[in-house]
Amino acid sequence: MRLANKVAIVTGGARGIGKAIALNLAEAGANVAICDVQSGEDTAACIEELGRTALALQVDITDKSQVEEAVGQILSKWGKIDILVNNAGITRDGLLMRMKESDWDAVLDVNLKGAFLFSQAVLRPMLRQRNGRIINIASVVGLMGNPGQGNYAASKAGLIGFSKSLAREVATRGVTVNCIAPGFIVTDMTDALTEAQKKSLMDQVPVGDMGQPNDVAAAVRFLASPCARYITGQTVNVDGGLVMD
Ligand SMILES: NC(=O)c1ccc[n+]([C@@H]2O[C@H](COP(=O)([O-])OP(=O)(O)OC[C@H]3O[C@@H](n4cnc5c(N)ncnc54)[C@H](O)[C@@H]3O)[C@@H](O)[C@H]2O)c1
Repeated sequence: MRLANKVAIVTGGARGIGKAIALNLAEAGANVAICDVQSGEDTAACIEELGRTALALQVDITDKSQVEEAVGQILSKWGKIDILVNNAGITRDGLLMRMKESDWDAVLDVNLKGAFLFSQAVLRPMLRQRNGRIINIASVVGLMGNPGQGNYAASKAGLIGFSKSLAREVATRGVTVNCIAPGFIVTDMTDALTEAQKKSLMDQVPVGDMGQPNDVAAAVRFLASPCARYITGQTVNVDGGLVMD
């Protein structure tokens, strides 16, 4: 119970990796706010079954006023914010020659601007309490690139650069900022891949299998815990060995 009485926010916590992260943090003792465009009530109910408190807020993370309103509600409920997990993300794949400007903008808005808006909104309370953890869910695609994912790769590489800059800004104030770069994880997002695409991807993964949402959640839990107090500005790959530096 290393996170007993901590307050965590998980964006995109209604399903997939975000839901696994929310439940894993709750198992470690945290109370959790789910901020998602979809209803997060199901995740919140599971958190309450674990004996923690939860708040499901319907928030579009690309909208500054909605983000600020959500952070205000979380502070009124619990009086503090200890952990922010910027997990919400989308894909709008297409080869660059044919990529619509709207698909570029949508991906950059959710994956990168959303993390900026949420980080900015929680920073003041975190700095005031001289303690905080910001964990950004990037992707191996931000490190390797991927044909058809120019917008997504740019957003995830941007998230890594953003995290390093913020880590340097707040390091002396007890706030750490790190990224996790998942590889291929079994979720609705990867369900869209054909069997042939999955097979060709798996041929590149040394472990030879797709990851589970909880593999990512376990790394988040570690980075959120006091054990990781001396780790900041890093990207942890959770990818079955796909990327080795
Ligand atoms: N699944 C993978 O293999 C994989 C690999 C690498 C990185 N990732 C990253 O992990 C994160 C979670 O991925 P997932 O597979 O669970 O995806 P998912 O599509 O299953 O879930 C994403 C969640 O984000 C929410 N969301 C989308 N736009 C939003 C917005 N504007 N405001 C608030 N919430 C919004 C969705 O409603 C959804 O609940 C994403 O950032 C993704 O890029 C996933």
